Amino acid sequence: MTRKITKICCIGAGYVGGPTMSVIAKKCPEITVTVVDINQERIDQWNDSDLSKLPIYEPGLREIVQETRGKNLFFSTDVDKGIEEAEMIFISVNTPTKTYGKGKGQAADLKYVELCARNIAKIAKTDKIVVEKSTLPVRTAAAIKSILDNSGNGVNFEILSNPEFLAEGTAINDLFHADRVLIGGDDTPSGQEAKDSLSSIYEHWLPKERILQTNVWSSELSKLVANAFLAQRVSSINSISALCEKTDANIEEVSKAIGYDSRIGPKFLNASVGFGGSCFQKDILNLVYIARSFGLQEVADYWEQVIILNDYQKSRFVDHMITTLYNTVAGKKIVIYGWAFKKDTNDTRESAAIYVVDALLEENAEITVYDPQVSENKIYADLDYLDTRSPEENRKLLTVTDEPVKAAMEAHAIAILTEWDEFKNLDWQDIYKSMLKPAFVFDGRRLLNKETMDGIGFKYYKIGQK
Ligand code: UDX
Ligand code: ADP
Repeated sequence: MTRKITKICCIGAGYVGGPTMSVIAKKCPEITVTVVDINQERIDQWNDSDLSKLPIYEPGLREIVQETRGKNLFFSTDVDKGIEEAEMIFISVNTPTKTYGKGKGQAADLKYVELCARNIAKIAKTDKIVVEKSTLPVRTAAAIKSILDNSGNGVNFEILSNPEFLAEGTAINDLFHADRVLIGGDDTPSGQEAKDSLSSIYEHWLPKERILQTNVWSSELSKLVANAFLAQRVSSINSISALCEKTDANIEEVSKAIGYDSRIGPKFLNASVGFGGSCFQKDILNLVYIARSFGLQEVADYWEQVIILNDYQKSRFVDHMITTLYNTVAGKKIVIYGWAFKKDTNDTRESAAIYVVDALLEENAEITVYDPQVSENKIYADLDYLDTRSPEENRKLLTVTDEPVKAAMEAHAIAILTEWDEFKNLDWQDIYKSMLKPAFVFDGRRLLNKETMDGIGFKYYKIGQK
């Protein structure tokens, strides 16, 4: 028998929790969805009557929030009340890579997840289905279960793993048309019942055959492996982009040629300045950590290479810029187009731009940044977090602008680090006129047309092409 869910609570109003719960609220009008977060500012932004103030920029999200908020979608800082009332609780809190202690720089920091579990254990007075949605290392469900089972309240908890596969910038579409939904849980009768309850939510809009039920280990591991495979494709093509730059091969032609092989397929073969985002690096590091902890050195080394190659791609890009700019960028004005880790998101976690700019600042370049969705505060916070130099120095060497064309005035070079569509439509002729000559453009996203750019007069470099 499937338990009918009428009240859901999601802990964590971030990039995963916000869009996922909005879509569930839209597709399941009979379910009340409450998203709770300890961050008051974030919740206020989610509740702002001005929808342009939502904390997350995601195409299609505003419309859904407008339609459902106040009806069956609520945002609140009252975490305890949310937990108490819900039959099903999603944990969608952040799980950054540890910055201290054992597993530092590799393992996921589970302190926020553990705090959540302890809070649920303390508050819950009725049976709950707890769904782990955050990206987590294998075996986290077991840890959550152990905390909950020892709460002493006599409440029964079923733990499910339901990893998120949405990509930022296309989150709403990915949720509406998911390739698959993965639900991991116990094989016991109550475990099966919990899995079916969660399945029935997704069945509001997805065909049943796309909802896969597995055991918890498989579900948790599949999430890491899916991201590792995707990231591996990007690193693979990026490794070949370096080879193309040394030869007459063109990476676009190579990508197309191999992508036509139906066994390989055309997606995730765009060479770039390097992948970013909150998942790829973190998930691979997790995989590496798990493999190493089981003594599987070769397996760990194999996957670690995907990250090593990604770091190489970023530093290779900077080295090429510096060499091309006559071996010095000191005092030179360089304009950066794009700070987000990909287009159509304001998320900057692990964005290649951060590392490229940090390296240029180390060479005393004068940087101006334009990004259509990322705020000035965020850009400075990202750089300050690296702690390479003082916050004052970062502010002295780098300015943020909302006028990309004007910013190019008297610049030595422009670097395109995010593939925002609007960069294609800039008046490049005008930009060229106002720049110092020779005017260099370093295209880390293969966004522009080489012939057109050469024709205008630019010294134009496109990653993966001589
Ligand atoms: C990823 C997974 O795609 C998603 O399923 C998972 O739930 C979360 O992690 P996301 O990080 O949001 O999603 O974006 P994605 O589109 O996968 O891109 C990741 C990075 O790879 C970006 O920096 C992107 O620019 C880069 N990338 C992607 C390339 O450089 N080339 C490509 O061909 C594809
Ligand atoms: P993700 O990309 O995984 O969604 P985010 O960092 O965007 O990650 O969002 C995670 C959210 O979880 C943050 O807004 C953070 O304030 C919230 N959070 C972390 N720990 C707790 C907690 N114990 N209770 C409630 N919310 C929490």
